[in-house]
Amino acid sequence: MVKNKKTDSFDEKRVVLTGDRPTGKLHLGHYVGSLLKRVELQNIHDQYVMIADVQALTDNAENPDKVRSNVIEVALDNLAVGVDPTKTTFFIQSEVPEIAELTVFFLNLVTLARLKRNPTVKDEMKQKGYKENVPAGFLTYPVSQAADILFCKATIVPVGEDQLPVLEQANEIVHKFNSLYGEVFEKIEPLMSSTPRLVGIDGKSKMSKSLDNAIYLSDSSEVIEKKVMQMYTDPDHIHVNDPGKVKGNVVFEYLDIFDEDKDELKKLKAQYKKGGLGDVEIKRRLIAILQDHLAPIRDRREYLAKDPKKVMEILEEGTKRARVVAIETLKEVREAMRINYF
Ligand code: TRP
Repeated sequence: MVKNKKTDSFDEKRVVLTGDRPTGKLHLGHYVGSLLKRVELQNIHDQYVMIADVQALTDNAENPDKVRSNVIEVALDNLAVGVDPTKTTFFIQSEVPEIAELTVFFLNLVTLARLKRNPTVKDEMKQKGYKENVPAGFLTYPVSQAADILFCKATIVPVGEDQLPVLEQANEIVHKFNSLYGEVFEKIEPLMSSTPRLVGIDGKSKMSKSLDNAIYLSDSSEVIEKKVMQMYTDPDHIHVNDPGKVKGNVVFEYLDIFDEDKDELKKLKAQYKKGGLGDVEIKRRLIAILQDHLAPIRDRREYLAKDPKKVMEILEEGTKRARVVAIETLKEVREAMRINYF
């Protein structure tokens, strides 16, 4: 397969699927790591973007309102950055019941032992302190995720590194299904982001809602300014004239991604390392760049948020398109499994 350097994608038109769990608003980490890619891929491939509300419920069964309200937030975030519902099939997982049906069939193709070995699920279970009291739906979410991907026969799935074990398990399901019932599904290929994972404003780890170190696409200009001003830089860079560290300095990590004037950035780094460039100055630069970048997204988001009914209509339309494909695939699956009676 020839890779296209510019898009990190594949030469011929393929079916691409990716999704978000609606458990919170999307932030700059999502933007850099996946949303920008979606805007690009929708012009090249047949793209599906799913709001994974069923998956969100696997560890939020007692919080249906949280999931419900975040469906609209995640929809707004995607639309605001430019996911175009005329190019992308943008839909809600729970409204495609064929995905649930496919999940039931796939559950026979995995063992409990294998589910318990999935390193991503293992980590998440540890974080949530589940042990043996893990909801069965949570332990089996990789199976349901395989159904998310395969109902539309997607072969490319853009994901972060943490999702690779989930895709590996999906491919085992593809293999098992095909060997038992005949060739219905193709192997899935992960598409990894070429940009490194965006660090949170605290500099400690990746940007994440639970760590409270995120800049949201919906943040106001005041909030963005405040968060950049709080960013971790170099604790030993106390006076302007002290030499400072660029590596591990969150402000420079962000400038590396967002500052288009690479020559100027190089000079600033040199000056910072030598001493004589203050944190406030580099932070001011980053604030201006982020504001330029995020203001049009925020404006568009605010505009769309005024009409939530319209947003739901967009999702309903996308869901209808997804269902047509899902019904088609399930017909083929039932035939292959010899459960096509009438
Ligand atoms: N598990 C993914 C996440 O936490 C969300 C997701 C659900 C997904 N279904 C998917 C991603 C299918 C890719 C393909 O980010």
